[in-house]
Amino acid sequence: MVPHIKSIAGIAPDQSVICIIGQEGVIPDLKLSVTETEYIKRSLADREGIITINSYYKLTILVREKKGLQGPALFEDLRRQAVKAVEELSFHKQSSVLVCGPHASEGSADALVEGLLLASYKFSRFKTGQDKQDMRRYPETIAILNGTTKQINRHKTLAEAVFFARDRVNEPLSHLTAEGFSSMINDFCSGAGLSVTTLNRKQIEALKMGGLIAVNRGSNDPPTFSVIEWKPAKAQNSKPVILVGKGVVFDTGGLNLKPTNYIEDMKADMAGGAVVASVMYYIAKQKIPLNIIALVPATDNRPGQNAFAPGDVIEMYNGKTVEVLNTDAEGRLILADALSYAEKYMPSLVISIATLTGSASSTFGSKAIALMGNAGKDLMSLLEQAGELCHERTATLPFWDEYAEMLKSDIADLKNIGGKDAGAITAGKFLENFTGAPFIHLDIAGTAMIKEADYYRPKGGTGSGVRLLAVFFDMLADGNMDKLN
Ligand code: BES
Ligand code: ZN
Ligand code: ZN
Repeated sequence: MVPHIKSIAGIAPDQSVICIIGQEGVIPDLKLSVTETEYIKRSLADREGIITINSYYKLTILVREKKGLQGPALFEDLRRQAVKAVEELSFHKQSSVLVCGPHASEGSADALVEGLLLASYKFSRFKTGQDKQDMRRYPETIAILNGTTKQINRHKTLAEAVFFARDRVNEPLSHLTAEGFSSMINDFCSGAGLSVTTLNRKQIEALKMGGLIAVNRGSNDPPTFSVIEWKPAKAQNSKPVILVGKGVVFDTGGLNLKPTNYIEDMKADMAGGAVVASVMYYIAKQKIPLNIIALVPATDNRPGQNAFAPGDVIEMYNGKTVEVLNTDAEGRLILADALSYAEKYMPSLVISIATLTGSASSTFGSKAIALMGNAGKDLMSLLEQAGELCHERTATLPFWDEYAEMLKSDIADLKNIGGKDAGAITAGKFLENFTGAPFIHLDIAGTAMIKEADYYRPKGGTGSGVRLLAVFFDMLADGNMDKLN
């Protein structure tokens, strides 16, 4: 559950307050006594960080804009300071807070609110009794002084979208099979006014989605394929943008079984699928005037009796043959089918997002999303800018055709692994074979789930990619449409 968020016209005395002090250092009227004002002035001069006092308001927390910071760096600093504010609220058991900043820079209050929302996340689904009580969220209510409806709605929607992705990543296979995952996507997205269709095993087999079927063969549970459509009346694009997300609900590696220390985190392997569902939710709630369709192929990957085997040759949805030399390179097989399924929509742009390779994770750790593609400089740098703005930063990898040569098979059209080097890139190049549209690929293997809290990203599922793509679509619809086509 996302904190309740609302607008308020004035500050009530029984309210805790977080106030942003702008670059000029003007202390706003917070009904402070002379002693309190003196204390604050001294603290402002003496030390960094937030300042908390008990005064007229229940708790007055002052957050300040650091000197010299502006734009994305300033906003990120405020999101991070919000984490300290959440700690204070939680220490003092203050479940409701008002945010103001009469002298703050434009965008600062929004960054602070975003930080509060994202830092309030807790995954308590499996806690019971007192333990569950102890996982109360702080704050539970955020009021923005003179906030606009548009502003409030965007915060709410974006937080709901990020929390959906985090929840799905945190849920283990015992509570999230492919069918469970697709029905959650269905509920979440239908509720936002999207049209959702879920293809079942029979339909997937009838379509001959050879990649998805092969990966699913070791499983006891059927695969699913979700199609989520947003078709607003006044869309600015005729040919849709397609999002494709990897929905491997658990990746054992299959017959190429993953060892201990690698297998444990693989409940997160559907993160890409969760991200695209979340982004569609955001797009629909925000009524972004673009035709956008998301595809989520889902299954677990297991070494069952009937599991596909290393060396197998499979025929993909588009008729191409793939020699499967490693059953642990399964994500690309299910994504490939989704990419070629997308061709029927004649897309203007295709973006895939997936926890695809250990290589992306070891290259960038949890600090950057690996970005690659052939969609051209304009779109790629728009995405990069979106990443800077929301601090879900991307790092671009080369996408030269030389890397595609590493995927040549002796006996089939392609093999599914490119050798030990450049693993993130060869995975992206593999996917490129299955779409004719301008293509962007995001590898979130390093960022989707983290082992230690990182400011407003609690340990576990991060929702990495949701804000990146939300901001990207905001920007695309807002004066960058010429970059499509
Ligand atoms: N799901 C994994 C990638 C992964 C690794 C995600 C670490 C998150 C954290 C993917 O299916 C996989 O196993 N990839 C293999 C590919 C290899 C066999 C070519 C990898 O990266 O090791
Ligand atoms: Zn794998
Ligand atoms: Zn995987």
